[in-house]
Amino acid sequence: MKNTYTPLPESITQLTEAQMQERIAVAREKLGDDLLILGHHYQADDVIRHAHFTGDSFKLARHAADQRDAKYVVFCGVHFMAECADILTTDDQTVILPDMGAGCSMADMAEDDDVEEAWDLLDDMGVKNIVPITYMNSTAAIKNFVGRNGGLVCTSSNATEVLNWAFERGERVMFLPDQHLGRNTAYAMGIALEQMPLWSPNARNGGSSAEAYRNSKVILWQGHCSVHAKFTLDNVETLRAADPDINILVHPECNFQVVQAADYVGSTEFIIRKIREAAPGSRWAIGTEFHLVNRLANEFPEVNVTSVSGLQCACATMYRIDPPHLLWSLENLLEGKVVNPIRVDADVAEGALLALNRMLQLKGDGAVGQQRGAAAV
Ligand code: 13P
Ligand code: SF4
Repeated sequence: MKNTYTPLPESITQLTEAQMQERIAVAREKLGDDLLILGHHYQADDVIRHAHFTGDSFKLARHAADQRDAKYVVFCGVHFMAECADILTTDDQTVILPDMGAGCSMADMAEDDDVEEAWDLLDDMGVKNIVPITYMNSTAAIKNFVGRNGGLVCTSSNATEVLNWAFERGERVMFLPDQHLGRNTAYAMGIALEQMPLWSPNARNGGSSAEAYRNSKVILWQGHCSVHAKFTLDNVETLRAADPDINILVHPECNFQVVQAADYVGSTEFIIRKIREAAPGSRWAIGTEFHLVNRLANEFPEVNVTSVSGLQCACATMYRIDPPHLLWSLENLLEGKVVNPIRVDADVAEGALLALNRMLQLKGDGAVGQQRGAAAV
């Protein structure tokens, strides 16, 4: 992702936090129906409070596709989410990412050249009939590749449904770029770990044998989320030893051991729902990004919410969207200037839209998670 750094004017950076909050509210009000602010659950409180809609990446994609009236969509999230919004909105709408530095290290782990090369190498090895699936957390170029090759996008809300769709159409899938979401979801569907070889873009011929790929059901791209990688089995065991009744609730970007040891696994939307419905006095340790865990702990004081890790596992790139950048993008709009527009090239957007629409046409409403060992809820 291109990282274009634009220094903010002193007229903004010198404001107090209270002044900044006030001016964001005024600008939002003045822009009226022309403006739609979308906020991902990992955003900090001082940003997300200004969002018209909040959600996980599935819900935000739906909002972007449904809101046809807003002229400007300001995306408080990361680059791949803003790209999706651009693809799903009309040509008359402009999507803005307040800070271009808000990328995603996981999305950067699958480059389109590497994926094209892997696809050809697998074909040479006699590995046929593959449906490609990409997690929403990927570049538009990867979504384009997937769409053009008969595949679709998934999010952490609908990965099971998407895998089922793919298995109705092919013998195996290539799952990009998050190996953990792919492995955790496929294992819960009854696929054996031996049928899920990894494809490493840095290893010769992917790093596993041609036979392993030929016998596979799911070829897992070797990508991961650096935030969720911080939650460990040791963390879970320590929590359980101290409190055998604690509920462990984790995001499926966590590694296999953590997910296996957890009580519940699901997207950020699912995590919020579980805490909202939790019995007063019950105790919960959550394995996901710090800002969301912190917000839930503050919003539901009658439920005891803590993080699975003692470390503050925050997504540094999500956090790039801060009040100064939000204010800067809104006040520029008031002056008729668009800063940091996200525009996906038409030829890339075409295939990516195919992949996104195949997902959006599935019947699920998102927010699906699982009690470990039980059917999806
Ligand atoms: P969801 O929004 O699908 O829960 O994913 C979390 C995430 O990592 C977004 O970057
Ligand atoms: Fe990417 Fe992980 Fe941050 Fe989500 S939490 S934006 S997957 S680095």
